[in-house]
Amino acid sequence: MKKRMILVLFAAVIMPSFAQDSNNPGFKAIVNHYAARNFVSGSIARSDLDAIIDAGIRAPSASNRQPWHFTVVQNLDLAQKIVPQTQDGNVLIVVSSSGDGKTNGSQILDCALATESIYLAAQALGYGSRIYTGPMNTLNSRFKSDLGLPSGYNAVALVRVGRVQAGVDAVSAASSRKSANDMVTYK
Ligand SMILES: Cc1cc2nc3c(=O)[nH]c(=O)nc-3n(C[C@H](O)[C@H](O)[C@H](O)COP(=O)(O)O)c2cc1C
Repeated sequence: MKKRMILVLFAAVIMPSFAQDSNNPGFKAIVNHYAARNFVSGSIARSDLDAIIDAGIRAPSASNRQPWHFTVVQNLDLAQKIVPQTQDGNVLIVVSSSGDGKTNGSQILDCALATESIYLAAQALGYGSRIYTGPMNTLNSRFKSDLGLPSGYNAVALVRVGRVQAGVDAVSAASSRKSANDMVTYK
């Protein structure tokens, strides 16, 4: 009898807190993102920038090796050499990896996770963000010393963070995704 009462109590009080809540702010930040296209000029608060970088630092990595370095490019001239569309006040956060990604296969994945965390954190704080890998060849061949990348590091991706016009609806601003039916198998 006592056992049954405990079970009923568990079902009534504890279980609902495990139920899916699509309005949960953490869940929304992960799902309702989009690659910003229309950045506008305007600065990013230093405390927000630090929080965004911290999200990258806190990303998981294989064996907790943290094989990354983050270069925060605030200089507009330098930023425009890497991403010509950069607007005044936008910041480029370059994620570089120790090693070439071949000696330890997880380094690129680790850096990708840090990149994603930075991208999502920026949007959770109300900024626009977009991931870029297109400029990596040029960056690694021409701008490593301008950026002060640590010796032996190669840039893997960068996240452009900046202000976007207020009122952009995150869901409708994002491109469509393939259907779950085409991509998910349950066994
Ligand atoms: C690994 C990666 C590399 C990307 N590289 C570029 C890039 O070089 N230039 C660019 O304009 N967008 C780049 N993007 C942004 C994607 O095009 C964008 O995330 C994708 O089209 C989904 O858009 P949505 O978020 O609006 O749906 C990149 C995204 C990822 C994840």
